Amino acid sequence: MNLQHFLADDQLNKQQILDLIALARDIKQHPKNYQNALAGKSVAMIFEKPSLRTHVSFDIGINKLGGHALYLGQQNGKLGERERVSDYAKNLSCFADGIVARVFDNSSIEQLAHHGSVPVINALCDLYHPCQALADFVTLAENFPDLSAVKLAYVGDANNVSNSLMLMAAIIGVDFTLVCPAGHGPDMQMYEKAIKFSETSGAKLVFTTDMKALGKQDAIYTDTWISMGDNTNITDILATFKPYQVNHDVMAKSGASIVMHCQPAHLEEEITTELFDSEMSVVFQSAENRMWAQNAVLVTLLAD
Ligand code: NVA
Repeated sequence: MNLQHFLADDQLNKQQILDLIALARDIKQHPKNYQNALAGKSVAMIFEKPSLRTHVSFDIGINKLGGHALYLGQQNGKLGERERVSDYAKNLSCFADGIVARVFDNSSIEQLAHHGSVPVINALCDLYHPCQALADFVTLAENFPDLSAVKLAYVGDANNVSNSLMLMAAIIGVDFTLVCPAGHGPDMQMYEKAIKFSETSGAKLVFTTDMKALGKQDAIYTDTWISMGDNTNITDILATFKPYQVNHDVMAKSGASIVMHCQPAHLEEEITTELFDSEMSVVFQSAENRMWAQNAVLVTLLAD
């Protein structure tokens, strides 16, 4: 597969996404076949924001591929402050074979890819979380025999995670419904891009502020009402978002059989504890799939 970076869902085509999902599932089933895929290779991982799943799944995942992961936190100051992002990218490219970056601003990801000379993987920014979306589509493929027939709905705050899910769904032809409170809907540029993709793929794309318009679904997804870097005060949004909580009632009305969340979950806010802990929850399956999905990206970008 011809892929230079993994920066944003909208830079991938349908075949690339389907190939990555298939490769992730193969690596998950036959990890030994890939244990030397990154032998002798080092990956520098920049984290501007906190992380549990992303940090651990990349570090341990790279180890499972025989490579070496180097964690770069904020001990050297904020990205772009002590030295330009372009110089950061050029320096890392002297040593590392790849760069994984979790950043505040998407422009940092773009600069790393533009100025560095090694593949860059977006491990979350303000606009996208493509590693998460890829893992979620692996999870959907594991739970439903025909991925193209799945109906996925995201309920809550439109953010990096919903952008990535919406774009990937639109590209590969999965029906996607986005339900958000008024004023918390998708970035219009993202939404228009997704509409364009859906016109080609045949995915049905719905955006509504009305929970009653959720309709019949196979899977319901939710995420925090306040993302990292948002300055919103929780008390200011609790009342607005309360009707958008994902709970057993929402699952029953939509007929969805699984509930998804990228975590960390804010229990009793966007999702009830009871539902998060229930049999319908695939949150830990998705967490594990982060590693297999990212390993598919790493193998595609870095293996000889
Ligand atoms: N939307 C969340 C995702 C966390 C994994 C955030 O950006 O904070």
